[in-house]
Amino acid sequence: MNEVLKNIRTRHSVRTYTQRQVSDADLALILEAATMAPNGMHLETWHFTAIQNPDVLVRLNEAVKGAFAKSSEPRLKERGHSATYCCYYHAPTLVLVSNEPTQWWAAMDCACALENMFLAAASLGIGSCWINQIGQTCDDSGVRALLTELGVPANHKVYGCAALGYEPEGTPVKEKRVKEGTITIVR
Ligand SMILES: Cc1cc2nc3c(=O)[nH]c(=O)nc-3n(C[C@H](O)[C@H](O)[C@H](O)COP(=O)(O)O)c2cc1C
Repeated sequence: MNEVLKNIRTRHSVRTYTQRQVSDADLALILEAATMAPNGMHLETWHFTAIQNPDVLVRLNEAVKGAFAKSSEPRLKERGHSATYCCYYHAPTLVLVSNEPTQWWAAMDCACALENMFLAAASLGIGSCWINQIGQTCDDSGVRALLTELGVPANHKVYGCAALGYEPEGTPVKEKRVKEGTITIVR
């Protein structure tokens, strides 16, 4: 099997991170991979906001919790009031992927870019996970104010984020189970 296919097979979501930071050179490669992703009509309306400042990450998590605390959904409300909840699993780097919601494929552009980042990260020995919660809350006033301060364009929605960092050594890797019946080949 070639290296690309091996990388696709072994990539997995990482939800526990060491505090070792992703280097500038590796972050640049991962972000470049994001910008190489296919995107509708090659309009490149997306934006990537990479955060490596721990204080900013804590502020972002607190803003998300503030939005969840207002929710009528008990599960989200509980997260909003939890002292330990961290939507980005304490990863040292978080990349926000945003786009203009005026194109119906905006979310798809972002998903392609996110998968490119996950695969690029895996190829460099860096763990990753899709983080949904900033997308879920990006229209909350508290979250939006911080996103604007961080440079996320005002006309953008966040469609997903990539947590990036190093998985602790020896973390057992779950075997991938693929549901039967998900593929049909018509010949
Ligand atoms: C659209 C999307 C949203 C996701 N949101 C989250 C999330 O918010 N938090 C999380 O821990 N994992 C999230 N995931 C990761 C999935 O749970 C994960 O990809 C799935 O369980 C398969 O595991 P694997 O990535 O290890 O193969 C998300 C994945 C996708 C594609």
